Amino acid sequence: MLKTINNLEMRDTIQYIKYMGSKTKILPFVLDGIDEVYRGGVICDLFSGSCSLAGAIGTQAPIISNDIQSYSAVIGKAYLTDWYDSSFNAKTIIEIATNYHNKNFKQIVKGLAHQEANDLLSFNKIESLNKELISKEFNNKWHLFTKYYSGTWWSAEQCSWIDSLRKAIEDFNDNPAYNTMLASLMYAMAYNSQGTGHYAQYRDAKTDSSMKDILIYRRKSILEYFERKLESALLQMRKKPSEYVHKVYTLDYMDCLEKVKNATIYADPPYCFVHYSRFYHAIETLVLYDYPRIQHKNNEMVKGRYREDRHQSPFSIRSKVKGAFADMFSAISDSNSSLVLSYSNTGMIDIEELLQLSNEIFTHHTVKIKSLKHLHMTMGRKDDRNRTVKEKLIIVKPL
Ligand SMILES: C[S@@+](CC[C@H](N)C(=O)[O-])C[C@H]1O[C@@H](n2cnc3c(N)ncnc32)[C@H](O)[C@@H]1O
Repeated sequence: MLKTINNLEMRDTIQYIKYMGSKTKILPFVLDGIDEVYRGGVICDLFSGSCSLAGAIGTQAPIISNDIQSYSAVIGKAYLTDWYDSSFNAKTIIEIATNYHNKNFKQIVKGLAHQEANDLLSFNKIESLNKELISKEFNNKWHLFTKYYSGTWWSAEQCSWIDSLRKAIEDFNDNPAYNTMLASLMYAMAYNSQGTGHYAQYRDAKTDSSMKDILIYRRKSILEYFERKLESALLQMRKKPSEYVHKVYTLDYMDCLEKVKNATIYADPPYCFVHYSRFYHAIETLVLYDYPRIQHKNNEMVKGRYREDRHQSPFSIRSKVKGAFADMFSAISDSNSSLVLSYSNTGMIDIEELLQLSNEIFTHHTVKIKSLKHLHMTMGRKDDRNRTVKEKLIIVKPL
């Protein structure tokens, strides 16, 4: 379906992950703002996240998609640069994964399944056995999720399929649809996970009803979700390389801005104090697959099993947020670019203060603000999963 928004048309596209702060639902509002300043040339999505912008307009303009997290680059490339040469289908990957699984994991996960778990005691016994795999020595190369995450967001069985599919996908690392394969695996992970769509905390079964709910997810099949997503992605994909020269970076926003001149910049930085690197560490690790050191507190591994080297964003730290915006505005002003900035009335810095800062720094520009009321997904962080917030756009254009 196409919705025409002045010059840029919004395309409904395949979704890969559930993302906190995703702009998918308010894209018409964002695109309206971009259209006010866009006069052709490059559009830079400076904090691309789940890459909703690239998905919607990547066939209509050259895009620079940037985010500090590596999973975002995978999704960005899946939308922007991947294409399908018909040399494989989802079954090809599944066959390789199944062979790997039979050889390396079938025996290990056999006694760890939840089929027999009908009461809280036996369920939690199996969960503990799953978690104990963290101390097991494996002799195959692709076992990161089975070792680190069994009994957390996924069961040992599901983790062993994540590893097997990850290995099979790596066999195709020079295929032009490689990132689409990885993004489809992120999708399967999100919809099989017993959490609320992110990986900050998994749930414990404390009551029969929470156990029953967790069991629904424990019994889902990573393979089925992966196959379905990849098949539908391949059907929609272009059959030749994109006609545009798109770029995808994994840079800090200030380093990215050094590469951007005379462009239209869309900036959607974090609004709140939680760090994306904590909420999405599991898909970062899926992409990097680097057996990271896990964060410890008081000599104990933290429950969420986060990577030690997580990025801490200045936009999520109250003492740094104003300086982070000031640096961004100065760099954009110097680059002679236009800016469309998304922010909300519930952000880390007051929207009026942000507007004042833009007026101070953008002295050779027009600066205006637009508002939209909408329901914001908090991904289970607050009791009110959906809060009404006012989304704002600050729109800046060189004179
Ligand atoms: C509100 S989200 C972007 C959502 C995105 N527009 C979408 O629709 O999915 C903010 C993003 O900023 C990224 N980020 C945080 N600090 C960053 C930094 N210093 N440089 C680059 N990206 C950063 C986070 O990883 C996160 O993906």
